[in-house]
Parts: sequence; C-alpha cells; structure tokens
Amino acid sequence: MSAKVFVKTYGCQMNEYDSDKILDVLRCTWGYAQAQDVEDADLIVFNTCSVREKAREKLYSELGRVRLRKKPSALIAVGGCVASMEGTAVIERMPCVNVVFGPQTLHRVGAMVQEYLRTRNPQVDVGFPGIEKFTYFPMPQVHGASAFVSIMEGCGNRCSYCVVPLTRGEEQSRPMREVLREVTCLASQGVKELTLLGQNVNAWASPLPAESGLGLDTLLEEVANVAGIERLRFLTSHPRFFVPGLVDAFGTIPKLASQLHLPVQHGSDRILAAMGRGYTVAQYIDLVQRLRAVRPGMSIGSDFIVGFPGETEEDFAQLIKLVDLVEFDNSFSFLYSPRPNTPAALLEDDTPRMVKQRRLRQLQEAITQNIERISARLVGTVQTVLVEGPSARDSAELAGRTECNRVVNFPGVPSLVGQMVPVRITETRTYSLRGECLQTFHRC
Ligand code: SAH
Ligand code: SF4
Ligand code: F3S
Repeated sequence: MSAKVFVKTYGCQMNEYDSDKILDVLRCTWGYAQAQDVEDADLIVFNTCSVREKAREKLYSELGRVRLRKKPSALIAVGGCVASMEGTAVIERMPCVNVVFGPQTLHRVGAMVQEYLRTRNPQVDVGFPGIEKFTYFPMPQVHGASAFVSIMEGCGNRCSYCVVPLTRGEEQSRPMREVLREVTCLASQGVKELTLLGQNVNAWASPLPAESGLGLDTLLEEVANVAGIERLRFLTSHPRFFVPGLVDAFGTIPKLASQLHLPVQHGSDRILAAMGRGYTVAQYIDLVQRLRAVRPGMSIGSDFIVGFPGETEEDFAQLIKLVDLVEFDNSFSFLYSPRPNTPAALLEDDTPRMVKQRRLRQLQEAITQNIERISARLVGTVQTVLVEGPSARDSAELAGRTECNRVVNFPGVPSLVGQMVPVRITETRTYSLRGECLQTFHRC
C-alpha cells in the first residue's frame, strides 16, 4: 500500500499553487497517495506563510498539536516562507520536524524524506535555485474549471515592511513557452478560467533571448488564444509596474476579466514613501482612471496596511478618503506587523495598539459599505457566471463566480458545473449574491 501524504497550506495563492505541486511531485515521482486528514498521513507537510507574525505563530501552534499525533511514525516536513526565513531554527524549536524546505526547493522534498529515512538525520534545504522547480513538476491534473499558474518566482521590490523578497528570493520569470505548455494542458482538462500568479506579476519578463522584450501584455494575449480558455485574471500587480501596454490589454483582450487586484497599501503619500512603494496617491488614482476608461466599472480590489509606524490620524483620514474615491471592491486589510530583517522594523512606532485596532475596524467598515454599494448595483443585471459546484449553504443549489469575482448562488443542476452560464442577479448578501440561471436546464 502506498504511503499517504497530507499537505496543509497557509498564506497566499502562490502557496496554494506550490502545495498542489508538492502533492503532484510526491504522487507522481515518489508514489504517495493523498491522505484525507493529518491523522491518516504518513507524511505531514506544512506549507507556511510568514508575512505577518500571526501567520508564523499558526505554524508553531499547529506543530504543537501534531507532535501528539495518533500515528507517531508519521514524518513532519515544513516548507514555505517560515521555513525559508528560519531554516534549521524550525527544528531547534520543534525537534519533531524531520524535513525543512523552502519555496524554491519544494521539488526536492521527496528525496529529502528518503534521505531522512535512510540516515535519521533531519534534512534542511532552503536554498534559492531560482525557477529550477518548475522543470520537475509533472503535468498538472485538475478537477474543476478554474486553475492557478505561477508565472514567476520571488519579488524584486523591497517594500520596507515585507519579508517576501527574503523568503521567496530574487524575482525570476518563467519562459513564455513553458507557461503556455502548462496552460494548454490545463485547458485540455476543461479549465476555462485561469489566474496567472506572481508576487509582482505585472513585472513578468521572459528570460529567454528568443522571447526577449516580451512582457505580461504579450503573455496574456497568448494565453487568451489557447483554445478553451474563456476568462483570464492575474495577480498580484504592483501599481509601479503597470505599464501603458498592460492598461491597453484590457481594451484588446476581451477574455481579461473586468477585475483587478491592485494593492495600494495606503492613502497617504508620506506613508507610501516610508513603505518604499514608489508611487503617489495621485499616480495610483490616475492609473485607476485609465483602467476604468478602457473598462468602465472595472472592479478594483486592494490590500491595505493600517498602523504603519508613524501613521497619524491625518494619514488615516487620507486612506479612508481614497477608499471611498476609488470605491474598492473585495479587499484585504491588515494591522502592520513588524518583520525581522526588514527596514520598517527599525522605525519608531508609538501609535497605541487600541488606536490601530480602531482604525482597522473603521477601514473595514468603509470597505464593506463600498462592497454593498457595488453589489446593489449588480441587482437586475445579467452576469456570466462560471459554475464551480454545489453552493456551500444549500447543496441543492449551485455556486459560481461573476467576472468581478463575486460568489453567486442560484438554483440549477449538476450538469451546469464547469460551464459559463448567464445568471440574472436577484438579491445581494454582503459578500455574495443570489440569482436565477437564464440558460435552460432540465432536472432529471
Ligand atoms: N506582492 C503583493 C502582496 C504580498 S503580501 C503586493 O505587493 O501587493 C500580501 C499583503 O500582505 C501585502 O499586500 C500587504 O498588504 C500585507 N503585508 C505584507 N507585509 C506585511 C506586514 N509586515 N504587516 C502587515 N501586512 C503586511
Ligand atoms: Fe512584498 Fe512589496 Fe514584493 Fe509585494 S511588492 S511581495 S509587498 S516586497
Ligand atoms: Fe505568505 Fe510567503 Fe505568500 S510570506 S503571503 S506565503 S509569499
């Protein structure tokens, strides 16, 4: 009987993609089967995030729990961004861990486990071999009509608060022809919606001399031309690298969804400068206006950091003003968390935690109000919905996503799953919608 592996994922979509690849490699190259849960596994893999202290602490509390696992012979491997930052220190703090690997060495995990079994010595490899890992991934096997494709590794920016460049290494893009090979394989399995991933995705630039000078706009065009691909997204974009050609792409590539995650982080020029983001609020607003000139009503989401060192009430007021002006859609907001080895961690931070928490609440209320306003405008419209499966609330209904990435629940039949169908929006809930399918279907 095959050994079983369970992978638990924390963090961003790039980690989700990486976890799928860890599973693919362990299954196809090392003969593992996928375990249903931690207790059932012979190998437990944690793919971790260290973007904020809370995310890092989650790993250690989880390790505390699995230390007492029912199957004591099960091995434990820690990968991802905490592993990359801390290396052998993970094992020093938690001796139950057998293998430690980083985001760029995840393809080696099978061999590291073998080596551990042979020697009984803990194995650590958190090196930065660049994009080598992609050449070890078997062709993906997917279920469902949506998929992620990582098109680059690392981040070349140095935002003053952020550990990602330290954990994921220097920015390196995958060649276009490799990306297209993966996309074609996904499309042949019924994938209709793709999200291209990178921490700085709009800075993608082919590394091959033969593809020299090609940027994300060309890659999007090529991916959109792959037969079967009907909807395309990319994330996460940095406003500084949003070149005019990429704005134009929204005019020339109809398959690009009218939705963009474009993190602004803050609404005060003083704070943006201290964060090292490399743009002003006015430049960000200008970019949004140019995008919406090409795609009227485009949904824009953002990440926000509240309570950055030195943030005053006036800075915060400017952030709220920007939120209302841009009318941000689905967004993520976080309390600033000082990270080791980042320049911002050295800044004096005298804003009381209570004040920061109040600001975070206020920001989240402002975002929710915007989301509700946007949802209300969708009532009565017909949206193209990619049907994902049964609704989480009521398994007799279906759930899918609109172009602006809202979940819509509606009555339907299982044969619609995986299809793009027209749905009239009838009602709003804060983060989801209800609707009726306009495509005829028959219940058997
Ligand atoms: N590459 C993306 C996002 C990377 S991390 C970008 O630049 O937009 C995801 C989000 O976590 C960031 O956008 C930021 O809002 C948040 N984040 C990063 N470091 C943080 C920190 N030290 N404290 C709080 N939030 C942080
Ligand atoms: Fe971090 Fe900035 Fe890179 Fe995003 S762009 S991953 S916030 S350094
Ligand atoms: Fe977290 Fe690493 Fe992603 S720090 S947000 S898992 S790149």
